[in-house]
Formats: sequence, C-alpha cells, structure tokens
Amino acid sequence: MKIHVRTYGCQMNERDTDSVISLLAARGHERAGNEEDADVIIVNTCSVREKAEDKALGKLGLMVAAKRDRPQRLVGAMGCMVQRLRAGIFDRVPGLDFAVGTEQHHLLAEVIERVLDGERPVLEAATDADLPDSAEELTGHVSGRTSAFVNILFGCDRGCAYCIVPSVRGRERSRPGESVLAEVRALATDGIREVTLLGQSVMSYGRKNKVWPGDYVSPNGFVEPLTRLLEAVANVDGIERVRFTSGHASGCTSELARAMASVPEVCEHLHLPLQSGSDRILKMMRRGYTTGEYRAAVDRLRAAAPDMAITTDIIVGFPSETVEEFEMTRRFMEEIAFDNAFIFKYSPRPGTAASEWDDDVPAEEKMRRNRVLLEEQDRRGLALNGTLVGQAIEVMVEGVSLRNSSRWSGRTRTNKIAVFEPRNGIAPGDVVDVMIEKAMAQTVYGTIQKKSQQS
Ligand code: 5AD
Ligand code: SF4
Repeated sequence: MKIHVRTYGCQMNERDTDSVISLLAARGHERAGNEEDADVIIVNTCSVREKAEDKALGKLGLMVAAKRDRPQRLVGAMGCMVQRLRAGIFDRVPGLDFAVGTEQHHLLAEVIERVLDGERPVLEAATDADLPDSAEELTGHVSGRTSAFVNILFGCDRGCAYCIVPSVRGRERSRPGESVLAEVRALATDGIREVTLLGQSVMSYGRKNKVWPGDYVSPNGFVEPLTRLLEAVANVDGIERVRFTSGHASGCTSELARAMASVPEVCEHLHLPLQSGSDRILKMMRRGYTTGEYRAAVDRLRAAAPDMAITTDIIVGFPSETVEEFEMTRRFMEEIAFDNAFIFKYSPRPGTAASEWDDDVPAEEKMRRNRVLLEEQDRRGLALNGTLVGQAIEVMVEGVSLRNSSRWSGRTRTNKIAVFEPRNGIAPGDVVDVMIEKAMAQTVYGTIQKKSQQS
C-alpha cells in the first residue's frame, strides 16, 4: 500500500517518521508521492503544547472526514498524543482506524494488517514499564539523503514542571555506544555525511545506564559517555559533521567544551534551552540551574570555541511570571546574544506539576511578551549574521532551496541556512566555502568560492 506520514513536533518525531517509512518499506509498502495518492495516512502527533495537539487533531479530523469519498483509505495516528490519550484518542477522533504510541512503530505493519482484516480501531501503546530498553528495532532510515538523525537516548527523567514529555516518552534510557556506532557506520555507507545525535536531554547520555565497556577511554582521553560517543562517531569514515541536541546547562562540562573545540567534525552549535531569565521562575520550572549557572555554561563553551552559536527555547507567561521577571528574560537574552530563539507561550499540560498552578498571565499579555522577544531576536539575529558578510564560510550543501527553486541551500557549521547559486560538479553532501554577501535574521546569502579541503 502507499503510505503517507504527516509529521508534527520535534526532531524525535521526524526521526520516528523516517524509521516508520523505512520499516513499512521493508514490509512491502511504498511511500506515496503525495498525500492525495496515499492508501494509508498516518499523522505523527505532538503533545508539547495544546496548539500542537489542536493542529494534529485538526488534520486527523479532515482526513477522517475525507473517508466519506474514499472509504478504503486508512487513517491512523502515532506518537506522543496517542501515548498520552491511549484509547481516548478514538473519542477525540471518531472514525480513526488505528493508533500507535511512541516506540511502537515496529508493530505498524501488523497493525495495518489487523485493520485490513476487519479489526478496528486498533490501539498499540506500551506502558512505561513495557518500553524497550533501547528500541533496537527502530534503527531504519530512508535512503538518498546526506544528513540523518540518530537516537542515542530515549525518554527523560528531568521532570520540568511544565513538560509533558516524561509522561509520553517514558523514563530515560541510553543506547549502548556500539549500537549507535553500528547505525552510524551503516548510514555513512549509505551516503550520510552529517549526523545529529538525538535525545530529549542528550547530555544525560550514559549517565544512568552503562553504554561503554568499563575501561574505555577515547583516543583523546575523553571519559564522559557523550564526549566518547562524539569522538567515536566523528571517527566513522565518511562522517564529516556531528551535531547533538537538545542540551542542558548542567551538562556543559569543561570536557564537553574541549570535545566541541577539538574534534573537528563536531559543529560549533548548541541548542541550549534557557526557558526563563528569572531565577525564581527557573526554580518553579524545576530546571535545575540558575541564570548564573547558565551563563557559566555558555562562557565555558565560548572560551573553548569562540565561534560557538547558541540557540535557545523560551517560555513566556509561565504561571505567576511578572512583567519584571519577563524583562529579566529579555535582558538575559540580550546579554547571551543568542543566534536564534524559539519563543513559546506557556500552555498548561494535563498531569504536569505546573498545571496545578493558576495559569494567570492573560492570553493578550502572553502574546505581547512573545512578540517583544521575537522582534528582539530578529534584530539580534540580523546583527549577528551581518558580521558574517564578507567572510568565506564552510557550508554543507543540502540541495534545492525550499523558497526559491533556482537556488540551492545548505547549512553552516553554526547551523544557519546559507543560500547560493548552484554550480556544476557540486552535489548534496559536498562541503563548500561560500562568500557571504547578504544576511537576514535566519539566513545568509552568498557565492560558492570553492570546494573545501575536506571533500
Ligand atoms: N508550554 C509552553 N512551552 C512548552 N515547552 C515545553 N512544554 C511547554 C509548555 N507546557 C517548550 C519548551 C521546550 C520546547 C520544546 O517547548 O521551551 O524547550
Ligand atoms: Fe517531541 Fe515532545 Fe512533541 Fe513528543 S511532545 S513530539 S517529544 S516535542
């Protein structure tokens, strides 16, 4: 059957979609060219904010309604909302054929068969206790790309007061280093040049369960589980760039800073969610750091690698956040000079500690705080990127630009999008030097000078 997956949410979900498509292909299904052609539509859902759930529910509702004209077409849901609502998803989306929770994608082919055999709706969602230790059956990837996500850590044990993730993604489990490496080697053989190691709290990698043989120290003397992994992945033949996300201020050790500065393949970019610039709010959020500790983490990274780009997430309108506390966030963002920031309006999530507290910042005020931070970040991004004009910057070519099909785009090591004219002999995965001529807040524009030494 022809399958189409629509993905909402974070990079974990993008990764899961990739793995689903490859697993279903191995079971004789194929990927639909577009949604219209599909015999099976799967919506990969996100629960992080109410708005994310509303989007997925809206899409599912439309797809189920369209079954009136195409009764043979199956519509299913997967991911975080299924894990959160379990059978309740069928009350929210009457007519849905099947639903599969997080880390259950290996069951999808059977689930589709069961639906075709007349059982419906079909639900597969594990309880936390049943979640696999390392989900080794979920390591398939779609071919024909040059960069890939690789899971290294599932779930999260942090327990931030606002966050639904621990309840939908389960307790924290790290994959053994050797199995991550086996996946990366296979990817490199398949043409992958850049890998992003994924975990909800990636710096916790290997802190809870053992991932390396006891006496293993990396060739450069790294002893922390994540730095050992970064170096080992960087050493895989064919891998030219390594990234990892998302970070946490408490994990920015001097050894991590040394690895980021000294392993050439590890890119100078870190996504380091701040959430708030007020120590009182950070404490209520149970983030486990103060602004002072966050600043020290950034200083450590920048001392080791001055070009380090830092991006962040901010929540505005957390319960009881005052205007002055919001101003603290605004000033702290200016002080850190983030390269980019994602700003979110606080959204109470069922079952979280913060959902017990009064959601007392009015919607318009959340909107205003959101707008102020976005505007400031735009101005800051523009100014920071402006300093790149006139410099030749290393870019990994990705392919035709999404916005303008006569141009190509790629990414700098600092994870900015670079747009340039295509050239003969240049292909996705190549590393080129681009002379930057123009800068916008999110994107830089320039001309290819030459292929870099590495490729
Ligand atoms: N409300 C608003 N934003 C949230 N995030 C996580 N939970 C919530 C919530 N309940 C944001 C955080 C996180 C990002 C992925 O989503 O900023 O880093
Ligand atoms: Fe990703 Fe969290 Fe959304 Fe799940 S709820 S898709 S883990 S952002």
